[in-house]
Amino acid sequence: MESRQATPVIDIRGVTKRFGETVAVDDVSFQVHRGEVLGFLGPNAAGKTTTMRILTCYLAPDEGTAAVAGFDIFENPVEVRRRIGYLPESAPLYLDMGVLDHLRFVAEVRGISQNDIESRVDDMIDVCGLQAVLSKDVGELSKGFRQRVGLAITMIHDPDILILDEPTTGLDPSQIIEIRELIRTIGSEKTVILSTHILPEVEATSTRVLIINEGRLVASGTPGELASMAMGDDRVVVTLRGPAADLEAALLALPHATGVEVTGAEPDGFVRFGLLSDDATGLADAVFDLARDRGLRLRELRRETASLEDIFLKLTRMDDSDEVTE
Ligand SMILES: Nc1ncnc2c1ncn2[C@@H]1O[C@H](COP(=O)(O)OP(=O)(O)O)[C@@H](O)[C@H]1O
Ligand SMILES: [Mg+2]
Repeated sequence: MESRQATPVIDIRGVTKRFGETVAVDDVSFQVHRGEVLGFLGPNAAGKTTTMRILTCYLAPDEGTAAVAGFDIFENPVEVRRRIGYLPESAPLYLDMGVLDHLRFVAEVRGISQNDIESRVDDMIDVCGLQAVLSKDVGELSKGFRQRVGLAITMIHDPDILILDEPTTGLDPSQIIEIRELIRTIGSEKTVILSTHILPEVEATSTRVLIINEGRLVASGTPGELASMAMGDDRVVVTLRGPAADLEAALLALPHATGVEVTGAEPDGFVRFGLLSDDATGLADAVFDLARDRGLRLRELRRETASLEDIFLKLTRMDDSDEVTE
C-alpha cells in the first residue's frame, strides 16, 4: 500500500493534537499521491476537521509534522497554502455579494494578476456550472449552488490539491449527487482529500479510503479492499415458515453457521433470519437441504457479502447505522 511514486503530494507523520484532555488527533500518519481522491471517513468528533486544519496551516500540531508538495507546514506555511484549496465545513461566503463579484473579489484577494482574473473566473463558472446564477446574490442561492460557489472560490487560484471538509453536508439528495459528480470531475485533474461521516460518499467519490475513529487511523485501502477485510463475516439471509425458536436452533446446528438472529417476521408465519457464517456458500447449500429434508417453506435465501459499511461499523463500534449513513 505504501508509495509507488517517489514523492507523495501530502505526507503526514506522527501528528498529534490535543485540546485540554481531548486527544483530537492521535499519532496520525498517512501519504496521499498525485491524482488520488482520498476519502477521510469517520463519525463525528473523530478528528477529521482537526487534521485538515493542521494540513492547511490553520492549526499547529502538538507533535509530528506534515509536508504538502514537499513544503513543511511549519517552515513554509505560505507555500503550503498556495498549493491547497481548502473548503471548510461552512464555506465563508459573503451573502450580499453577487456571484460574479464574489468570484472576482476572491481572485483579487488570492493575488491573481489583473490580466488573469477574468479567465480564471470564467474557468470556474464553467467547471462549477454557475452560468445560470451569475447575476444573483450568493444569499439568494440554494445550498447546492452556494456549495458550487464555495468550490469555485476554493479552486480560483488553481491549486493542485483540494481539501474539502464534509462538502455535501446539508444538501438535498439531488444536490448531493451533483456535488459528488463535480468532485469526481475535479478529482480527475487534482489531488483531493475529502472528509465525510457518510459512507456512500466515499464509495461514490474516492479512490482510497482512510477510516479515522477517536483520533486514530483504523483502516486504509480502496473501498473494495476494505470490504474484503470483512470476509469471514459473510452473512446468509433466509426466510422460512415455522416456529421461530425451532427454526433458530435448527439453523444454528447447520455446518458453517456461527451465529443466528431473528431479523423479522411476516404476518403469514414466515420468519427472517440473519446467519453468520465462516463459509456463506456452504451454509446456503445447507439451508436449502434443511428446507427440503424437513419440507419447510422457503421464501428467501441469499448470501450477503460484507460491505464497506460493515467494516466501518465494526471499526468504529457504532451500532446505530442511521447515525453514520444519514
Ligand atoms: N478548537 C477546539 N477546542 C476544543 N476541542 C476541540 C476543538 N476542535 C476540535 N475539538 C475536539 O476534538 C475532537 C475532534 O474534533 P473534529 O476534528 O472537529 O472532528 P470531526 O471533524 O471528525 O467531527 C472532538 O472531540 C472535538 O470536540
Ligand atoms: Mg468536522
